Amino acid sequence: KEAEERARQRPRVFKEPKKCPPLGLESHKVEPDQLSASSAAQYRYAAQRARLNMQGSDDEDNMRGGAWCANAEDRIHWFEIDARRETEFTGVITQGRDSLNDDFVTSYYLAFSNDSREWSTIHDGYADWLFFGNSDKDTPVMNQLAEPVLARYIRIIPQSWNGSLCMRLEVLGCPVLVQYRQNEVTPVDYLEFKHHSYSEMVSLMKSVNDECPNITHIYSLGRSSKGLDIMAMIISGNPTEHEIGEPEMRFTAGLHGNEATGRELLLLLMQYLCKEYKDRNPRAQRLVEGIRIHLVPSLNPDGHEEAFEVGSELSGWTTGHFTEEGFDIFQNFPDLNNILWEAEDKGMVPKLMPNHHVPIPENLETNNSIAVETRTIISWMKNYPFVLGANFQGGERVVAYPYDSLRFDVTEWGRGYHEEPEEDWRGRGYPRVTADESLFRWLAVSYASTHLTMTHSYHGSCQGDSAGAGHGIVNRAKWKPITGSMNDFSYLHTNCFELSVFLGCDKFPHQSDLSYEWEKNKEAMLTFMEQVHRGIRGVVKDQQGNPIANATISVEGINHDVTTSPTGDYWRLLNPGEYRVTARAEGFSPVTKLCVVGYQSGATACSFNLAKSNWDRIKQVRQHWPETTLHPHFGPTLRY
Ligand SMILES: *[C@@H]1O[C@H](CO)[C@@H](O)[C@H](O)[C@H]1NC(C)=O
Ligand SMILES: *[C@@H]1O[C@H](CO)[C@@H](O)[C@H](O)[C@H]1NC(C)=O
Ligand SMILES: *[C@@H]1O[C@H](CO)[C@@H](O)[C@H](O)[C@H]1NC(C)=O
Ligand SMILES: *[C@@H]1O[C@H](CO)[C@@H](O)[C@H](O)[C@H]1NC(C)=O
Ligand SMILES: *[C@@H]1O[C@H](CO)[C@@H](O)[C@H](O)[C@H]1NC(C)=O
Repeated sequence: KEAEERARQRPRVFKEPKKCPPLGLESHKVEPDQLSASSAAQYRYAAQRARLNMQGSDDEDNMRGGAWCANAEDRIHWFEIDARRETEFTGVITQGRDSLNDDFVTSYYLAFSNDSREWSTIHDGYADWLFFGNSDKDTPVMNQLAEPVLARYIRIIPQSWNGSLCMRLEVLGCPVLVQYRQNEVTPVDYLEFKHHSYSEMVSLMKSVNDECPNITHIYSLGRSSKGLDIMAMIISGNPTEHEIGEPEMRFTAGLHGNEATGRELLLLLMQYLCKEYKDRNPRAQRLVEGIRIHLVPSLNPDGHEEAFEVGSELSGWTTGHFTEEGFDIFQNFPDLNNILWEAEDKGMVPKLMPNHHVPIPENLETNNSIAVETRTIISWMKNYPFVLGANFQGGERVVAYPYDSLRFDVTEWGRGYHEEPEEDWRGRGYPRVTADESLFRWLAVSYASTHLTMTHSYHGSCQGDSAGAGHGIVNRAKWKPITGSMNDFSYLHTNCFELSVFLGCDKFPHQSDLSYEWEKNKEAMLTFMEQVHRGIRGVVKDQQGNPIANATISVEGINHDVTTSPTGDYWRLLNPGEYRVTARAEGFSPVTKLCVVGYQSGATACSFNLAKSNWDRIKQVRQHWPETTLHPHFGPTLRY
């Protein structure tokens, strides 16, 4: 009480305090053995759970506690961080426990040491300086030190709390002497490593466009609910039009406005491709000339504005995650999975119902629980012949591939479409594999294995569950199932194969981490883009050489077809192998070919010329002699 009173009376310090970046409890740069505490209530609330924004499980059998919690029977409590080197500490950010309870620390002292034995607390000349902590369990609260304190160890000594003594935290400090990370990485000087506000993002895109006018083109997908344009940049040899035979791919970011790393990576990728293309880097030239690349850094610009305002350290787990109207865009797409799966289970696919381009039910078209941003993204996805895509997210370090949704109807076990149900899945649905499982796994591996740290299993996962299990890839439905995901929708309603890349534990990393984020992801992004050339591609034409739009391309043994674009060209991503491929179009006789996909890079050309079917010719005859009667099921050429 006395200390609180003194703390309230203390004159405010008006000097601007020194600002340092976080040590990295949230990003996991700080390793588990750097964290220790006076006690732990249980193993699931060990000191290693004290990282800012750590997500817990309310299931008591789960090891994922939502904070560090002290043993209630102890009298003295402290939490200690070993910075491992002499550090100028400048502040502390605290947060309560992630759970349904209201557990948080309301005041604490700070102590510092060079050897972890002799401690000196921050003192105001009369008594220890009391810092005020949290007033709810979720909102991070920062205390900055008026003067930096030089030491190696820091202790937070809780004095009062609400509910149980539980906390999550981050510590701000500048390491003295060696700036390790800056030695590891030599950032390229033409790249702009900073977080960009909406207007800064737009002007950066314009400056790249000015720099590289004949390989870039800026356009808007449409507007967010607050009226901000969702900006995209095309990078390609001939950016303003689709070139026949050239595949289109997309990278998107910022579906969740507070997951800011992907946004900055895409802005960096724009600068990189423009500069390297101009400098005649052969790999950049191949990418730019061989692909029409669409980069969309911010699918939820309203959410980003909200998180950006609070800043990288205090934006918390959900600030700006949703759209202005409260939607999580990534899981706001029409659920087509159950429509297809039910038809598959009844044996209707592909004979009676196509295995691709599942139509959106009419009531969903007008359903007002679909966000304006989602509708905008859907029409964008249908406007371009996208082949491959990835969306960048945050809060974990793994590449997740579809299906993202679980199958809930467990009356029939789906006739071989799913994996053996485990006891565990009963009652909450079971995962079902896509017809392109091995390809999706390859695409996920192509990113994870070329990323600098995604497959480092000793880092563990961010929240302590088994995401990725050391390989850096995971099937989303087995990990964290959701319905109505962008990836499932993309696979079931369009030709595009889409995955999610979770870039790291800290959704909104400090600006000083961005150059390292770029180094970690640069090769992976380039490699992933190159995968658009894996498989077969070609053009479907009639015998007069006119392209046939909307023809279907089926690969024997893979129950998922793709269709040709309005210019008759198609791309079918496939792993190496020999495939029997059939092209079909209404009014034409189907043609089947053997197409071989090798290990070398570059898609195998596999084009088709289709002849008008007999049935079609007879129809024409019938128009001349309308009284001729024919059996309507005549002819081998009706689809399926
Ligand atoms: C730690 O050592 C440095 C000198 O190396 C000294 O300036 C500093 O005050 C010491 N910190 C503490 C908490 O004793
Ligand atoms: C403090 O904790 C109690 C339960 O221990 C809870 O009922 C109360 O709402 C909490 N206070 C606040 C401000 O969250
Ligand atoms: C872009 O424009 C420059 C100058 O006009 C020209 O030299 C270059 O060949 C052009 N590149 C492309 C891909 O058209
Ligand atoms: C609208 O969509 C939501 C989510 O997909 C669904 O739960 C709801 O039943 C739909 N409403 C109508 C009228 O179709
Ligand atoms: C594409 O063809 C299918 C049948 O093959 C048809 O149902 C669909 O309406 C066609 N789509 C377009 C855009 O023409």
